[in-house]
Formats: sequence, structure tokens, C-alpha cells
Amino acid sequence: MSAPRKVHIKSYGCQMNVYDADRMADLLAQEGFCETATATDADVVILNTCHIREKAAEKLYSELGRMRPLKQAAAREGRKFAVVVAGCVAQAEGEEIARRAPGVDVIVGPQSYHRLPALLARAPQEGLLVDTEFPLESKFDFLARSPQIGRRPPVSAFVTVQEGCDKFCTFCVVPYTRGAEMSRPVAAILAEVEDLVARGAREITLIGQNVSAYRGVGPDGEAWTLGRLLYAAAASGRLARLRYTTSHPGDFDAALVAAHRDLGALMPFVHLPVQSGSDRILAAMNRRYTRAGYLRAIERLRAARSDLAFSSDFIVGFPGESEADFQESLQLVDTIGYAGAFSFKYSARPGTPAAALPEQVPEAVKLERLLRLQAAIARNQAAFNARCLGARLPVLFEKPGRHAGQLVGRSPYMQPVHVMADASMLAQTAMVTITGLSANSLEGTLVPESNRRAAHGERETCPG
Ligand code: SAH
Ligand code: SF4
Ligand code: F3S
Repeated sequence: MSAPRKVHIKSYGCQMNVYDADRMADLLAQEGFCETATATDADVVILNTCHIREKAAEKLYSELGRMRPLKQAAAREGRKFAVVVAGCVAQAEGEEIARRAPGVDVIVGPQSYHRLPALLARAPQEGLLVDTEFPLESKFDFLARSPQIGRRPPVSAFVTVQEGCDKFCTFCVVPYTRGAEMSRPVAAILAEVEDLVARGAREITLIGQNVSAYRGVGPDGEAWTLGRLLYAAAASGRLARLRYTTSHPGDFDAALVAAHRDLGALMPFVHLPVQSGSDRILAAMNRRYTRAGYLRAIERLRAARSDLAFSSDFIVGFPGESEADFQESLQLVDTIGYAGAFSFKYSARPGTPAAALPEQVPEAVKLERLLRLQAAIARNQAAFNARCLGARLPVLFEKPGRHAGQLVGRSPYMQPVHVMADASMLAQTAMVTITGLSANSLEGTLVPESNRRAAHGERETCPG
């Protein structure tokens, strides 16, 4: 019997790509491939790319440069070595990729991954193959998880519930690279959640570009909202924690707000990207909400659950952003008191409306604003973490720590927490007293006796 072929998958970008990479690995496992952690001993390398900012997209080309000697070495040894470009750069740039960097065998867009085995089989005879269609069939009908392959899910696992985006923010490539919004049916999602939980996952994050726009068909034939889906998912067996990301501030309906009030498993931490604090810039971005509307969404959520914390995304230096506009973003960070936030310099993306706007902001100004915003975010994050000192938080242990006898878990707010605890506590939730803070994590000690009680999301969390 010949040795199994090996595939190495390198993913960039968002959680959608992480999920897709695992599904591609499942699909190829059915074809007899096993996964390898390095490109050097692989027969197939898949670069699962991101197009969101110029820097992210450029990573593909430096990576393809690294593939060239590997391909040459394989050819000298008479071995086959195939390079696949998947993900959002594949969708956006298609054949241009092969023109810029020869040596690519397959270019496949995010909606065509189910065709990957067939493309890989044809490539040696037919040369470069490009599949960047938005096929009529849904990849999800073919990309189901393959439990028979025995890949144990992580303690915290993702399930894609929705893909694509119809919002068309003027800076963003996602509506073009991922296509129109589509929601997976409720039954398929719940079956995947059940399967993951049965095989050891304890936390499920429902993911999508815009999950608050979820409208999947339910078993009753109706279109379910995300709120309704969360109630059903929370009922799943030994599931300890439920999260969702990313949601759009314009789409918060009553059921979603109520889910935060009613579901102990739904973690009190919401990533709610605002992008800017200025109404003028929000309108130019086509975000479809105002600063006041965003604050209202936050207030409704806080009224439903008082220990909720928020994180966000910001863009600085969007075309036309003045110092006064930027000041409104800075102030918003303090007004909300975010537990954390990502911030990015605006990157003009080909084909998006904002790239053609006249008042592009100079790079030096973007950088200077980014640094000021990051300082404000860091200050708020440090204050949030400091409020956790002395608190008792439920921690879900995910993996061994760096020191012997130590485990690392996550608080409800996604903070990594280092605790001296027995390995038998992996994949369990326990109450932990927070005793120390470091730059990006917390330290704590197990609360004796109460460990088991906390298993279902006890609400003893940071003071707000
Ligand atoms: N669907 C999510 C965002 C997905 S993209 C939402 O609407 O909030 C992730 C983040 O990348 C965005 O929130 C935004 O902050 C950032 N981003 C997207 N396009 C960008 C661009 N052209 N330049 C800089 N940052 C960008
Ligand atoms: Fe991009 Fe806007 Fe859609 Fe988010 S909502 S994916 S930022 S177009
Ligand atoms: Fe990047 Fe595509 Fe995700 S552009 S952020 S990988 S949807």
C-alpha cells in the first residue's frame, strides 16, 4: 500500500478561513490525504488567503515565493508537489495570481471548495485550473464534517452559520469575495453542533460575515433569526458555552437581545464592530447606523444582561476623515469602555467605492491616528482587566499551560487565564479567583469545591 499523501494548509484572515481550512482537510482526508504541519514534506500545499487589506493580500505573494524552491526540489526527486491558492485573494485576483507568480496549480474561490479533489486530480494533466465561480450548489452540502476520520474537535470550535454579505460597506471586499448572503439551514447547523459536542467540544462559536442577518430555513419551514437559532443551539447536550461573531450593529432584533437575557450558556461578550465614531464617516462608509444607533444597540444589550462587555473593530484614516471625526472615534472608545478592540489603517481595496474617493488620508496621518487609538484601546482594556482582579470567573480550560501542572483556559470575556490545575480538568469549566494580571492574560487559582457547579455558565463575572 502506498503512503498517504500529505496536505499542508496555511490560513490567513478571519475565522471563516479557519473553518474552511478544516473542511478542506476533512474533504481531502476522504481522498486519503493526511495533514502535515510543514510545507516541506507536503504533496499539496493550500494557501488559504485573505484580501481584506493590502498587507494581508501581499502575504500570498511572499508565500508563493517560498513555494518555488520546494516545487523545484520535488521535481528533481520525481515527486508531485501541487500548490493551491484558496480563499479571498483567489476569488478576487483569479488567474492574475498565476501570472504574477508562476508555479500555482489550482486557484479555487471560497464557494467552490467542494470541487477541490476533482481539481487536484485534473491539474497534473491539464495545467493551471481556476474555479472562482459562485456555483448553484452549496459547498456546505458537500463539506460536512467527517467524524469517521476521527479528527477530535478542539474544546472551542467554530460552526459557520452564514456566509457572504449584502451590506456593501464602501471600504470592504467581502461582498465581492464571499458573494451574497446565504444562511445554512437550522437542522444542518444543529446537527453539526450536536456532533461536535458529542465528540468533546464544549464551546461553540457560530460564525459568519454578518451573523445577525442569519435567516436560515428552520424545520418548520420558516426563516429563523440568529436569536431563535441561539435558543435551539443552547439546548444542545453538554454544551457549556455559546458565542457568535461577527454581528452588525444595525441588525440587532428583540430575539437576539432576549437570548442574552435568557441563555446562561451565551457568553456575556459581544464583538460589535463600529468602524468609526463619526456620523459623517459612518454614512460615507455606508454602515447604515449612526453613533447614537450604535450606542442604543449597546444599551439594549446591557439592559438585557448587565455584565456584558464589548469589543470592536475601528478603521482610521477612511477617505475624508478629519481630526474632528477621528476624535469622535477616540471618545467612543472611552464612552463604551471596550474590553478590547482591533484597529486598522484604512487600506484602499481595488474595486471598492471608497478607493475612488478623492480625499485619501496620507499614510503618516493614518499611522499617527492608529497609534493614538491603540493607546486609548489599551488603556480601556487594562482598566477592564484590572476590574477582574479579585473577581471569580468561570474558566473553560482549553490546553496545557507552559509550566508543569498549569492549564490555560478562557474567561467569558475571552481573556486567557493561567491556572494551576490537574490535566483532568481540560475541557471543563471551573470557577477561578483572578489573582494576577499580565499584558495579555490573567492568572488565577481554582475556587475549591465549587468547580463542578460552574459547568453551565454561572454568572459570577467581572464588575461592569
Ligand atoms: N463583517 C464585519 C467585518 C468583517 S472584516 C463587520 O461588518 O463588522 C473585519 C474588519 O476588517 C472590519 O471590521 C474592518 O474594521 C476591517 N476592514 C475591512 N476592510 C478594511 C479596509 N479596506 N481597510 C482597513 N480595514 C478594513
Ligand atoms: Fe464588509 Fe460591511 Fe459586510 Fe462587514 S458588513 S463584511 S465590513 S461589507
Ligand atoms: Fe479576509 Fe476573506 Fe475573511 S477577505 S477577513 S478571509 S472573508
